[in-house]
This record gives sequence, structure tokens and C-alpha cells, in this order.
Amino acid sequence: MSNVVSYQVVDNIGVISVNNPPVNALAQVVRAGILEAVTAAQNDATDALVLRCEGRTFIAGADITEFGKPPQGPGLPEVLGAIENSTKPVIAAIHGTALGGGFEVSLACHYRCAIASAKVGLPEVKLGLLPGAGGTQRVPRIAGVKVALDMITSGNPIGAEKAKALNLIDEVVGGDDVQAGAIAYAKELVASGAPLKRIRDITIDPATVEPGFFDAARKQLAARARGQIAPDRIVSCIEAAVGQPMDAGLDRERELFMELVSSPESAAMRHIFFAERQAAKIKDLPRDTPLREVKKVAVIGGGTMGGGIAMCFANVGIKVVMVEINDEALARGLGIIEKNYAITMKKGKLTEAQVAQCMGAISGTTDYGDLADVDLVIEAVFENLELKKEIFAKLDAVCKPGAILASNTSYQDIDAIAAATKRPQDVLGMHFFSPANVMKLLEVVRGEKTADDALATAMAIGKKIGKVCALSRVCYGFIGNRMLGGYGRESQMLLLDGCTPAQVDSALEGFGMAMGPLAMGDLAGLDVGYKAREGRTDLPNDPKLYRMGTVLVEMDRFGQKTGAGFYKYDPATRARMNDPEIEALIKSEAAALGVEQREVSEQEILERCLYPLINEGALILEEGIAQRPSDIDVVYVFGYAFPAPKGGPMHYADHVGLKNVYDKICEFRDRYGEDYWKPAPLLEKLAKEGKTFAQWGAEQE
Ligand SMILES: NC(=O)c1ccc[n+]([C@@H]2O[C@H](COP(=O)([O-])OP(=O)(O)OC[C@H]3O[C@@H](n4cnc5c(N)ncnc54)[C@H](O)[C@@H]3O)[C@@H](O)[C@H]2O)c1
Repeated sequence: MSNVVSYQVVDNIGVISVNNPPVNALAQVVRAGILEAVTAAQNDATDALVLRCEGRTFIAGADITEFGKPPQGPGLPEVLGAIENSTKPVIAAIHGTALGGGFEVSLACHYRCAIASAKVGLPEVKLGLLPGAGGTQRVPRIAGVKVALDMITSGNPIGAEKAKALNLIDEVVGGDDVQAGAIAYAKELVASGAPLKRIRDITIDPATVEPGFFDAARKQLAARARGQIAPDRIVSCIEAAVGQPMDAGLDRERELFMELVSSPESAAMRHIFFAERQAAKIKDLPRDTPLREVKKVAVIGGGTMGGGIAMCFANVGIKVVMVEINDEALARGLGIIEKNYAITMKKGKLTEAQVAQCMGAISGTTDYGDLADVDLVIEAVFENLELKKEIFAKLDAVCKPGAILASNTSYQDIDAIAAATKRPQDVLGMHFFSPANVMKLLEVVRGEKTADDALATAMAIGKKIGKVCALSRVCYGFIGNRMLGGYGRESQMLLLDGCTPAQVDSALEGFGMAMGPLAMGDLAGLDVGYKAREGRTDLPNDPKLYRMGTVLVEMDRFGQKTGAGFYKYDPATRARMNDPEIEALIKSEAAALGVEQREVSEQEILERCLYPLINEGALILEEGIAQRPSDIDVVYVFGYAFPAPKGGPMHYADHVGLKNVYDKICEFRDRYGEDYWKPAPLLEKLAKEGKTFAQWGAEQE
């Protein structure tokens, strides 16, 4: 027997144990070991077989390091066939999580039992794939098409009790010892003469499926697909499970799985999966960099961001104190948090007791003197450098030595803020995204003098509060907001050129962005950009630049908060509506500026908005602001809702071809001038060498 799969007999029950740490992934040795054990056990004297795992979990999925490599036998279908055709019952004994191929292995068993804390799931859709080892065929056969559809298109895991109620598993065994529970259950099955239940023998009667069920499901999924194709293919697989023999369904599943595996969408989603893990690693920081202890946190400012940031810490049981300028502002800040928790509770995501616990972790003060014992401070006051410097000088005076002093600033210079203290080594940026308790990204900004352990601690604490962290050096807007400059600019220039706001936004929403750039401006408040531009001296002196945004602010149309911006908003539902008045205004502004309006293609809208992201991303890489191209992709997917099936701007650029991107940027430069379109030297170099950002990134590791 292989050393990762072992076999022993306990009370006439053959126990097959998988031991492939950390998560018992279905590597070739595991597949081979299970196959060998099941085959050999057919001829021994046992009454039944239990398949279980050592360590913290049942088989948690495929071995993703095998992706893209030539397959090595035995394949999973062969292993599942051996289990299914066993002449004695095989019982899966689940603890931890049975995910993907792991759950599919259990579905080939005749019975499944689990301890109460276990979960089962088919998360393949999250990598743009579908369960390719019978999951789409067996789940609908035991749990019905509706459950199968929800489970497989969401990819979310299901707890043992619920899984039993849905018939996904047969038994929840008591206690924590899954092996003992499973052996007892196996003996019961043997004693009662339980049959060899093969899921493949079940036929789903088409009459049990509502007419139009699959079409309705497809429509519903398409509405939120944002460029994903896997959900649609999953529907097709489940449809193939209805009324057909198992093997026909398996053929369909295989065919569509192969399509997805080689699709750009899945490649992009797998890229993001690895990029997220890679982003957590800081290249020049030793692995054993010590971490500072963070038990208590202070948040300065209880506005839009401060409240959400405080919730992030309270949610994981870290004490937070919120500091505001006066009692009224403090009460308002704490009140918003309370309201947010009430909403979460209503949605059933937290219980009343959990909310009470979170609220109990949050306190408030107006006295900086109360910050003497905090380990980490996150400043989230108004975006004003002088104010921030003043606050950091105050923090320097009251905080204990070694406390990490972070700013949530979107644009200000972290080094200038650090220079306001006598401990610049403890100062860094922790840039959250709005709403801070929801958005996954945290940009950790490394100042010139930030100490290694302060930086490592910020990354670790970010992970602890459930964020995806990406490292940025100091520059105006850091990685994400700096790149956004050209994106916002072009979205407005396109209006003067002849697009309506809806045309611009729907092109980008069609690409998969959660919200188009103009609608996004309306949401964030057009006054915010207006004020930010007032202070800038580096922008070209061009009346066309941000013309429409400026005109709208001067008309007091700030966006959603005033009920109107690029669009009108329904006061009751907040639904956005096209505004003919604005469409006419755009025309007259264009005429006044001497811009000749024309038909602009959707393709041009995409290129003009997306290519500036790529070009700025290339500059950011050359300057060493971002560590690697994939970090930029992580920033965009998790912080700016860039569609994961496109993989982030740098991955997307590789997909389009850097030469194509470069040529187009040169064309725009010739048309609109160097102020706006100047190809980044790195982009030019890679385009000419025929390389990708991914290749360049790998060379730099
Ligand atoms: N709003 C966003 O989408 C967003 C996203 C990322 C980062 N940021 C950054 O976060 C910071 C805060 O932004 P916001 O949108 O939450 O602002 P906000 O105006 O909603 O809140 C700022 C809060 O700070 C308080 N405050 C001001 N001076 C203070 C002081 N001396 N001590 C304590 N509290 C004080 C104010 O009373 C106010 O409640 C800014 O630097 C901003 O650039 C904002």
C-alpha cells in the first residue's frame, strides 16, 4: 500500500485511511492508493469498507498543483468506478470539509456519514470550472435539481445537518471521532442488510422538473454572471442528468468540463486564486520576520470608513476604540455601526448574541489620552494632509512605544505623515475600500522608513480580519486609485466624443465591471473628485478634461446623494435613470468646446477606459510601487470589482496581447496627444519582445 493511503481491519470493517497533509488533496498517490485498497478489499473477509482521512479534514479537493500538467493515472473516474462497483458497501466518513473531488469521491460511496462540524461542497465554479467527476450527475439524483443547481452554481459549502436534510449525506454521527462513528454506522448498515446504494442507478423523472425550470435558472444566473460562463455550463450538465442514463450525463459533464478547463475565463479565475495567495508574500521580507502583538486597536474618525474599519476588528473579537472630535460625532459614528449590525442580523448572517458580542468589543472616546494602551491605530479622518500630520504628532505623544500607526488615506503621502512623528518606522498605510466591512481588499502601504515587523504585522492583521492584502509603495493614489485616473478621465472624454452615460457604463458593465465608471462616480459623489482636482497642479490645462464632472458639480448634481449626477435617481428605489437633460447638455458642451461628436464603438469605449489601467499598471511595476503584475490584478479584482473571469487588468492585457495594447495606445497618442496617452516604457519593451506581464513577473521573482 502507498504510504499516503493505509488499510486496517477493525471489527470486520475495512478502514481505508488517507493521509496526505495538509488537506488530503486528491493527488495521484491518493487516487492510486484508494484504488488499490478498494480493489484488494474485495477479496478479504470484511463486511464493509469505511473511507476516512487523517488530519484536519476529509479530502478537500483536487490537487491544484496538478492543473495544467499531463494527467497521471489512475484518473478519478476509474477510482470512483471501483468504489461504486465494490461488492461490499463503502461508507465515506467525513470530517472537516469534503470539497470538490473530495465530495465527489464520497458521492461514489454507497453511504455518507459525517460529524456535525463537517461541511460538504462543490466549489469548482469559483475557479470557473464545474465538478468534473460526476458531481453534476450524482447531486441532482439524490438531492433534486434545485438543490444541485444552488449548490453547484454558488460553490458554497453546506453544514452536515443541512446536508443530511437535503439528502446529500445519510447520517450525522455523534461526537468528534469520525472513525468510531463511521464504524458503528457501518456495522448498523451491515446488520440491517442495507443494500448497496449506487447513486448512478437513480433515474430523475423529467415530470418532476417544472417546465421552464432550466431556462429560468439560466436567465437568473446570466444576470449576475459578470463574464462567467461556468454557471451556464453547470445548468446544462444538470439538465443532462434528467431522464437520461448516468453515462450520458457523465459524457456531457466531461465535454463541458473540458471546455471550461481550456477557457480564458477559468484561466483568469485560477490566476486570481494563485495571485491572491502570492500577494500575501513580501519579496524582501524574511519568512521569520517577527510579528507585533495586536490586541487592541484604535480607529480615529467614525465616518464612512472609520465605522466599517472598526467593525472588521470587532468581528474577529479584537477590541476597538473609536475616537471622534466630539460626543455628537461619536454617537453618530457608533450609531451607524449599530445600524449596520442590525442589517447583518436581519439578513441572518449574525445572531443577536454575536452582534452583542461585536458591539461589546467597540468603545468610543473623544480623548486621545485613552490611546495609551492600543497596539495599532488606524486614522480615517478627513482627507487633509495637515490634519493628518497633526493627528500623527498627537498619536506619537500618547501611544506606547511599538504601537503601529496607520493611515487609511487614499492619496496622501505616507512618508510626510510619518515625518510628523519621531517614530517613522512604526508608520504605514492601511488603505481600506468602501464599505470597509464588506470590501475584501486592503492595500498595505510601505513607507520609506517602515520597519519590517510593522509591515509584516499589518499584512498578518489584514489577513486575520478577512482581507486580501496587497502591498504598495508610496505614490499618489497608491496602486488602485492611481491607476483609476485615466479610467475616470476617458469615461468623461467619451461623453464629449458622442457617447451617452448609459453607453459608456453599459459597455463596461457588459465587460463585467460591477458598475460602470460614471455610475460609480455618481455613487462616490462627483464633488469628491471635483475637490481633489482643485488641489492638483499636475493636470493638463485642457477645458475638455473632466468637463462634464465639473459642470455637474457646479449644477449641484453631486450624484446619488443629491438624487442626480450623470443620471437621475428614483428617490424611493435609487434606481438609475437616463436623463435627457444631461444628454442634451453633453451635446451643447461638446459644441462649445469645438468637439465634433461621432458614433463611438463599444470596442473603443472599452479600449479607452481599460488601456489606461494597463499602461499605468506598467509604470507602477517599473517604479516598484507594486511588487508584481499579479498583485495589481488582486487590487483590481478585490478592491474595484474588476471581473474575476477577466483576471484583472494585467492578466487581461496579456490575454489581449501586449503588442495589441501598445499599438492601440500609440494610435490614441497620435489622436489625442501625449498628455493623455504615453505608452509606458515597460509596456513598449515587453510588446516589442513579444512577452507577457506574467512572464516578466516570473523573471522578477
Ligand atoms: N470614503 C471612501 O470611499 C474612502 C475609501 C478609502 C479611503 N478613504 C479615506 O479614509 C479617510 C476618511 O474618509 P471618510 O470617507 O470616512 O470621511 P468622513 O468624512 O466620512 O469621516 C471622517 C470623520 O473623521 C472625523 N474627524 C475629523 N477630524 C478628527 C479628529 N481630529 N479626530 C477624530 N476624528 C476626526 C470626522 O468627525 C468624521 O466623522 C480619508 O482619508 C479618505 O481619503 C475614504
